[in-house]
Amino acid sequence: MAGGVIVDTSGGKEYPGKVTAYVIFASIVAAFGGLIFGYDIGISGGVTSMDSFLLDFFPSVYQKAKLDTSTNQYCKFDSALLTLFTSSLYLAALVASVCASTVTRVAGRKWSMFGGGVVFLGGALLNGAATNVSMLIIGRILLGVGVGFANQSVPVYLSEMAPARLRGMLNILFQLMITIGIVIANLINYGTAKIAGGWGWRVSLGLAGVPAIMITVGSLFLPDTPNSLIERGHPDEAKEMLKRIRGTEDVGAEYEDLVAASEEAKQIKHPWRNILEKRNRPPLTMSICIPFFQQLTGINVIMFYAPVLFKTIGFGDDASLMSAVITGLVNVVATFVSIIMVDRAGRRFLFLQGGTQMLACQIIVGALIGSVFGTTGEGEMTKVKAVFIVIAICFYVAAFAWSWGPLGWLVPSEVFPLEIRSAGQSMNVSVNMLFTFFIGQLFLKMLCTMKFGLFFFFGGWVIIMTIFVYMFVPETKGVPIEEMVLVWKQHWFWSKYISDEDTHVGKKPKA
Ligand code: BGC
Repeated sequence: MAGGVIVDTSGGKEYPGKVTAYVIFASIVAAFGGLIFGYDIGISGGVTSMDSFLLDFFPSVYQKAKLDTSTNQYCKFDSALLTLFTSSLYLAALVASVCASTVTRVAGRKWSMFGGGVVFLGGALLNGAATNVSMLIIGRILLGVGVGFANQSVPVYLSEMAPARLRGMLNILFQLMITIGIVIANLINYGTAKIAGGWGWRVSLGLAGVPAIMITVGSLFLPDTPNSLIERGHPDEAKEMLKRIRGTEDVGAEYEDLVAASEEAKQIKHPWRNILEKRNRPPLTMSICIPFFQQLTGINVIMFYAPVLFKTIGFGDDASLMSAVITGLVNVVATFVSIIMVDRAGRRFLFLQGGTQMLACQIIVGALIGSVFGTTGEGEMTKVKAVFIVIAICFYVAAFAWSWGPLGWLVPSEVFPLEIRSAGQSMNVSVNMLFTFFIGQLFLKMLCTMKFGLFFFFGGWVIIMTIFVYMFVPETKGVPIEEMVLVWKQHWFWSKYISDEDTHVGKKPKA
């Protein structure tokens, strides 16, 4: 492991250099990759609640919803085919993210982003022009491939470009773009649902081409990261790039650390075998548990199905789409709280506070829905209760937006040693996509069977994940990435997995 920095978990020592406009510009362009992911998350819920879309592609769901006026509210929209439309994307992204880790390593990060953008554009065009369900689903799969490539390469790119003390903030630009993508999609749905003639859904799906073009064209202008240049045998260019992005000639220490870390990485022939070694047990656990728990917060019930959910509690079409816009805006604004706090208050504080707030909101929403529809799903929602539900959902979304949302991408990306960071990131994306798929696929069925208890179900998981963070997730704020092993070494539980040879002598973290 390379030298040059001293671990200080209370603040962190820095390499020389400043935050240049160039690095900020490059980070914003790369973070556009989050837009395509967010746009997908936000668009499908609104589209699947449009009558014209249902009539064209899922007439049986439409009939069922129309005929089903007096009975069970919980089961109105339960259709496996309809959920497959939403969730097929995430299975494709899962598979693609594994392939993307090789492209990202061998060809460089920008070409993964470029490739992802191009495939995504194809998916957007196919969806906008769809005349049957197969075109829709194939289009969604292409979108998924694009998302898989972007989610694999963008967080790695951001972490490598960022100076250490701004790692949290710059990483969260990715999540910020996700939330902006979601709210733009919500707004577009709100507008297109009003288009007479029933082709509004085509506009919603086709406009996914806009963020696709942004990341495709933007990636062509992105510089390669110094790490990737060294890895691919261009050491001189790497040094020049480091000087440019740090705005100083004095990059010797950081450059040597990059070269040393890259040398070490080259010794590893089988990152996927290496990741299973005992000393990598702690970060491996994080890269599986954190994305799993992120999805078990239940956030995508709101993100995918907010309009459907709001219809379920008795809102009209317009009010349902409007409420989705409101939760989307709360999501964006609350992400700024995380950007400001993450490198100050730290990751653990945000996780624990966010978890507690989400739990309280889930109990309130479950109790209110239960008090109206009971277990039969029959009942009349009052205006006051409906408004309270929307407010509680907004507080829930805000809590997610400054805790599990951004931290679900940040923490797994910063805990792996360089030699297996790429494999670790693939693991993170794959687990995230797998459980996003499950939630997307199963939510309507779960709502139909668990009824209001669904909110308590997710609340139960929030309790478990909050205890998990309290017990097992150490604070990583301000700790240089390559020194993370010392954090595990002094952790009450994880220390037994780290032998003395795994750390280096003389660099002891402050207590
Ligand atoms: C999650 C998505 C979620 C989004 C909401 C992301 O961090 O990975 O599944 O829809 O946040 O803002």
